[in-house]
Amino acid sequence: MNAKNPTTTPAWGRLVDLSEKYKSLSIPHLFEKPERFERYSLLHEDVLVDFSKNRINGEIFSALMDLAREADLHEAIEQMFGGSPINQTENRAVLHTALRNRSNHPVNVEGKNVMPEVNAVLAQMKAFADQIHGQTWLGYTGKPIKSLINIGIGGSDLGPVMVTEALKPFQNPNLEIFFVSNVDGTHISETLKKVDPETTLFFIASKTFTTQETMTNAHTARSWFLDQAKDESAVAKHFVALSTNTKAVASFGIDTANMFQFWDWVGGRYSLWSAIGLPIACVIGFENFEKLLSGAYSMDEHFRHSVFERNIPVVLAMIGIWNTNFLGAASEAILPYDQYLHRFAAYFQQGNMESNGKYVTRDGQKVNYTTGPIIWGEPGTNGQHAFYQLIHQGTHLIPCDFIAPAISHNPIGDHHQKLLSNFFAQTEALMKGKSLEEVKAEMEKAGKSADEIEKIAPHRVFEGNRLTNSILVKKITPYTLGQLIAMYEHKIFVQGVIWNIFSFDQWGVELGKVLANGILPELSGEEEVKSHDSSTNGLINAYKTMRKG
Ligand code: F6P
Repeated sequence: MNAKNPTTTPAWGRLVDLSEKYKSLSIPHLFEKPERFERYSLLHEDVLVDFSKNRINGEIFSALMDLAREADLHEAIEQMFGGSPINQTENRAVLHTALRNRSNHPVNVEGKNVMPEVNAVLAQMKAFADQIHGQTWLGYTGKPIKSLINIGIGGSDLGPVMVTEALKPFQNPNLEIFFVSNVDGTHISETLKKVDPETTLFFIASKTFTTQETMTNAHTARSWFLDQAKDESAVAKHFVALSTNTKAVASFGIDTANMFQFWDWVGGRYSLWSAIGLPIACVIGFENFEKLLSGAYSMDEHFRHSVFERNIPVVLAMIGIWNTNFLGAASEAILPYDQYLHRFAAYFQQGNMESNGKYVTRDGQKVNYTTGPIIWGEPGTNGQHAFYQLIHQGTHLIPCDFIAPAISHNPIGDHHQKLLSNFFAQTEALMKGKSLEEVKAEMEKAGKSADEIEKIAPHRVFEGNRLTNSILVKKITPYTLGQLIAMYEHKIFVQGVIWNIFSFDQWGVELGKVLANGILPELSGEEEVKSHDSSTNGLINAYKTMRKG
């Protein structure tokens, strides 16, 4: 990968000028030109992306595309798909795309085609998922498994949680799935209260198989299980491992026959396509899991082969760059108008922030521009009654992605039309706003006194000109969900390329882990702790006093 400071490219310079020239660009005025929607929206199969409600015009759009070219984006895309070690700080390829490479064309890492291994694990997953989904896998007392518990954290949790929630309508109703991630004993305790060891299967999901939270919860689960089963040999029927670390899996006591392998070229937050997706395959069935992979593959192909101007992930990424680096937006909201997608924003909070929350460039310098935004969001319409006030009338510019399916899985009464009327209305309101004149006229019409109008009208004004993308899909299915996830993954990749950072490591999570490991033994005894700053010492010592009760 090159290590080009984006601010040194001619396109960046042009964008700086354009941001000055079009400082007061008004989106409602831009809509006076015909065919803005046609020009600034893209359709890929059943996914429609409308990015017309952004502060962009032809000049800005073409400079953004030039920036992508000048950052050698095309070469970077080929390097990723081609298996080059673009995760340079860990000397690894980045090949979540190989996991869903439905064409099966060879993908080489250090000269070796990884597809045979990928296919072998998929076949192993299919054989296992068929037994769990079909309820032919029996527990140690001969009863079929009905409760699945995934123990994992971060990428080994969020993907399976998000996808199983999103695809609930496709789940086998005889199976229930739980997720335990937090090392807080409450998480596992409350989960274990709901299940029976005879009919419960645990997935210990950890790329490294060393993560403190996961290993602690896994040991607790194992003891809980053995308390009842009282037979080590029963573990094989109730525990499987999803990991890259065969040695650690074996030493935990899981038969490596029950281990589903993946590889170091699969990043944790990009791993739901790998063996980490096994719980998904078990509850929705392997065929549906394959459709998820196929949807992602279709987006991969679109991303790899479309010209930048018609390339959904590229366009979304470059608009994000414009909003972040030239309009000063610090965060992005993801707002799904679909209850099943209620963990979608949380999923991409890790996906995006762990990938692009970096201030060091690919050549080890400190950046002199802004990088990854803060990602947050909740499903509509709940968000409307919580934080939209700030999006409409606050002082922060918050670009929003609105996502909705045209067809609901629960078409009761007029719920879906009401939901979608809100989906359409919000982006319109955010863009158009409401002027003082409009407010005054409205209040006059409602018979309000001049005094009241004077006092209240300013509070009812909406500046508008707020930035939104609308993503409308036909229906949330395994296939379209695969497309949506891959779309965001590639958006994140593109932005990392432009920002000249390494998107596939996560050194930033290390320091806290190391310090916690140092503090853990200090919490055991009664003696006063003096090894830290006065705040940390004070807190630890106060804790030691408080816990005495
Ligand atoms: O939080 C850091 C991290 O390494 C994430 O990147 C990863 O998804 C998570 O921890 C879990 O790691 P593992 O799968 O190795 O347990």
